[in-house]
Amino acid sequence: MKFFIDTANIDEIREAHSMGMVDGVTTNPSLIAKEGRDFEDIIKEICQIVDGPISAEVISTDTEGMIKEARHLAKIHDNIVVKIPMIVDGLKATHRLAEEGIKTNVTLAFSPLQALMAAKAGATYISPFIGRLDDLSQEGLLLVEQIVEIYSNYAFDTEIIVASIRNPLHVLESALMGADIATIPFSVLGKLAAHPMTDKGLKAFLDDWEKTKK
Ligand code: G3P
Repeated sequence: MKFFIDTANIDEIREAHSMGMVDGVTTNPSLIAKEGRDFEDIIKEICQIVDGPISAEVISTDTEGMIKEARHLAKIHDNIVVKIPMIVDGLKATHRLAEEGIKTNVTLAFSPLQALMAAKAGATYISPFIGRLDDLSQEGLLLVEQIVEIYSNYAFDTEIIVASIRNPLHVLESALMGADIATIPFSVLGKLAAHPMTDKGLKAFLDDWEKTKK
């Protein structure tokens, strides 16, 4: 499974990258706004750090506007993937951009049929938002399971980026289902690595080692 990091924070990206955990980066307008810096400056800086797909999202909601933004963003770096919202105009833009060879990540997907349509339109990636479904008492992971099955049934090339991840179980279950990618917030990445028995065992080893010096 590939790990992307779901942040626009450069310090978090550098730290996760130094752990060897960053195969790519996803951003969105909310994550960019949190940084209080110029959008393109942030995207360019991320491209210097990570050699993998970097998602940058359009703001337009009409097809022509999305295509114009996408062409501009795609020129920033070969690794740019243009994030397109899962609306009808977004499907049209995705289809046209696929013909131009511009990679897309269809975002804000909440149903398996949306994911099927995105794949048919030629999306490079689909981003099901599972945490936001859980927030509504709907099973986010069921959506991932259904998309994995549909894409496998029809051998779509579109890769699944499990997004809106809130906890380690989201990552574990997505990996067991065979989702291609998990885009993980920095806070959750730390939780994946941690185990109290590791800390307890390490402390015991170091305490015992100290005893050998007495
Ligand atoms: O990158 C999009 C997605 O991961 C957002 O997550 O936590 O805002 O639902 P969240």
